[in-house]
Amino acid sequence: MTTRYDAVRAELQAKPRTWLVTGCAGFIGSNLLETLLSLDQTVVGLDNFSTGYQHNLDEVQSLVTPQQWARFRFIEGDIRDLDTCRRAVEGVQHVLHEAALGSVPRSLNDPITTNAVNVGGQLNMLVAARDAKVQSFVYAASSSTYGDHPGLPKVEDQIGKPLSPYAITKYVNELYADVFARAYGFQTIGLRYFNVFGKRQDPDGAYAAVIPKWVSSMIRDQEVIINGDGETSRDFTFIENVVQANLLASQAGPEGVNQVYNVAFNARTSLNQLFGHLRDVLGHNGIGYTHEPRHGDFRAGDVRHSQADVSKARHLLGYEPLYDILQGLEVAMPWYTQFLR
Ligand SMILES: NC(=O)c1ccc[n+]([C@@H]2O[C@H](COP(=O)([O-])OP(=O)(O)OC[C@H]3O[C@@H](n4cnc5c(N)ncnc54)[C@H](O)[C@@H]3O)[C@@H](O)[C@H]2O)c1
Repeated sequence: MTTRYDAVRAELQAKPRTWLVTGCAGFIGSNLLETLLSLDQTVVGLDNFSTGYQHNLDEVQSLVTPQQWARFRFIEGDIRDLDTCRRAVEGVQHVLHEAALGSVPRSLNDPITTNAVNVGGQLNMLVAARDAKVQSFVYAASSSTYGDHPGLPKVEDQIGKPLSPYAITKYVNELYADVFARAYGFQTIGLRYFNVFGKRQDPDGAYAAVIPKWVSSMIRDQEVIINGDGETSRDFTFIENVVQANLLASQAGPEGVNQVYNVAFNARTSLNQLFGHLRDVLGHNGIGYTHEPRHGDFRAGDVRHSQADVSKARHLLGYEPLYDILQGLEVAMPWYTQFLR
């Protein structure tokens, strides 16, 4: 059966477009870049390397053909600078705005920089894209917007109070996007990602996400620390599902735009279960890990449970997540074992 995603990829290959991916040297941005180039699209990338890496771009180059790589133009620059944003959107039809400072703890330590990049930067991008009359504008929103709302699974129109400065910035992104539709008729789509994982996600540093951090510790035979009792749960979302959602959103019809959507798998995995999955999948890849994890303190600003209802994206965008957590870990593990040693 042909899915909407198959149809969109075929349409793009038949009629290639010009894209801007902000944050293209980061985890999600570099995966979007890889997929777009492999579909023979022309891509402008914008990044200031604050949390992204040249080696992510080098890796993408190694995975596409020289002809595909020649369709990529990189701008090293900062989304806090409006002129840079204007330069980046010139001649672009579709914008995928990923550049931001992620991480709840980072935002607690430095709310001012997180706000400047995530709110000011997105506002610049909205202004630049509106003025350049791009055809579509899709931006990275976040499951952190659900804040303290206790409902599960999370549905898009029921949110609570934010639990961190990061969560505020991601909610403000949605508010600005909505106002741009009302005030200027500039339509956008926000994708509320839920704990994304996959290749090229940074395993290092104080703000690393749990999966690459634990996998790299396990591969190096180091101790794994679980924050709290380990019953905190997340809807871990494989990167390929996120790439799919972005491409679908970029080609959405009038009924799908000016909306926010959950992008997840619609399952809940506790940290204790995650530890077991990682140990099993590492085992299939020839790496035995025999230590038990140590439990530390709960982390400030974290929500206790998270799971998404993805029916809105399914109905309005044709989103069909193809990888559950275990399938995603099996696909990602060879990359982790090669690069996280
Ligand atoms: N990874 C997740 O689980 C997750 C969950 C929810 C939302 N998000 C959102 O998805 C987006 C991408 O996240 P990611 O996980 O790929 O993070 P990442 O840190 O790997 O990528 C972000 C990229 O943006 C770039 N960047 C940061 N500030 C910039 C600036 N001022 N100007 C230009 N470039 C800048 C960084 O250098 C980096 O390459 C972010 O908006 C993040 O808030 C991610």
